[in-house]
Amino acid sequence: MSGIFTLDGKVALVTGAASGIGTGIAEILAEAGAHVIVADINEEGVAHTVELLHAAGHRADGVTVDLSDEHSIVRAVAEVVASHGAPWVLVNNAGVQDREYLLEESVAGWDRTQAINARGPFLMTREVGRAMVAAGQGGRIVNIASMTIHGMMTKGTAAYIASKGAVAALTSQTALELAEHGITANSVLPGAVMTPGAMAAKGPPTEGPACRRGVFGMNDPRDIGAAVLFFATPAARMVTNQRLAVDAGWSLS
Ligand SMILES: NC(=O)c1ccc[n+]([C@@H]2O[C@H](COP(=O)([O-])OP(=O)(O)OC[C@H]3O[C@@H](n4cnc5c(N)ncnc54)[C@H](O)[C@@H]3O)[C@@H](O)[C@H]2O)c1
Repeated sequence: MSGIFTLDGKVALVTGAASGIGTGIAEILAEAGAHVIVADINEEGVAHTVELLHAAGHRADGVTVDLSDEHSIVRAVAEVVASHGAPWVLVNNAGVQDREYLLEESVAGWDRTQAINARGPFLMTREVGRAMVAAGQGGRIVNIASMTIHGMMTKGTAAYIASKGAVAALTSQTALELAEHGITANSVLPGAVMTPGAMAAKGPPTEGPACRRGVFGMNDPRDIGAAVLFFATPAARMVTNQRLAVDAGWSLS
C-alpha cells in the first residue's frame, strides 16, 4: 500500500463502532494504521470492538457516548482529545433505523431519529471540529448518510430519510466552513447492508424500491469502510463536499 493510502499514526474516531457498519469502518481504518477510538452508547459493544481490534494487532480505545445528549458528546470528545489529541478523522456513522408510516409517525419518534442521526453528527462535528482547528493539523470528516436520499427508499422512513438528508446537507456546510482549516468533509451513502441494526429495526415491513437487490448483491460493512478510508487518507486531500454511493450497483438493477 502506498503512503498516501495509509493512516499511520493518525487517530480516527468512529461513532456507532460497536456494531455493524461502524465495526467494519473501524476495522478498515485500523488496518490502514489508524489508532481507532470506538465511540458508542453500547458500553459492552465498545469493549467488544476494542478487543476485536487489539486481537488483530491494531491500536484502539473506546469511549461511551450518547449522541442524543449534548453533554455526553462534549464530555466524550473532551476525554478523547485529552488522552489522544485531536482526531485526524471523525466518522459520523451511528444511527437508528426504526420505521413508521408518515401518517402514523409520532413527534417523539421523529425527534428521537433527528436527535441521534442528525443533531448527533452536528454536535460531534462542532466538538471535534473545534479540536481539529485548535490543533491546526487539518483533518477529515466523513458522514454516513444513506442511498435512501437517492431514491433507494422503503415506506415508513420519513423521519430516517429526513435525518439522512440533513446529514448530507451538514456535510456540505462543514466542507464550506472548515476548508480554510485544511479539513475536508464528505459523505458515504450505503445501500443495503445486513447489520444487527438493520435486522432489528422496528416498524412496518420493508416495501419499496430498496427491496430491489443491487447487481452485486448485498454490501458488507467493510465495503462501506473502504469508501470511508479513501476520504480519510492523504490521497483524498483535494476531495471535499462529495457523496460516494456504495450500493452494490443498485442503480443498475
Ligand atoms: N444497514 C444498512 O442497510 C444501512 C444503509 C444505509 C445507511 N446506514 C447507516 O449506517 C449507519 C450504521 O448503521 P448499521 O446498520 O451499522 O446499524 P447498527 O444498529 O448495527 O449500528 C449502529 C450503532 O449506533 C449505535 N447508536 C445508536 N444510538 C446511539 C446513540 N444515541 N449514541 C451513540 N451510539 C448510538 C448503536 O449502539 C450501534 O452500535 C447508520 O447511520 C445507518 O443509518 C445503514
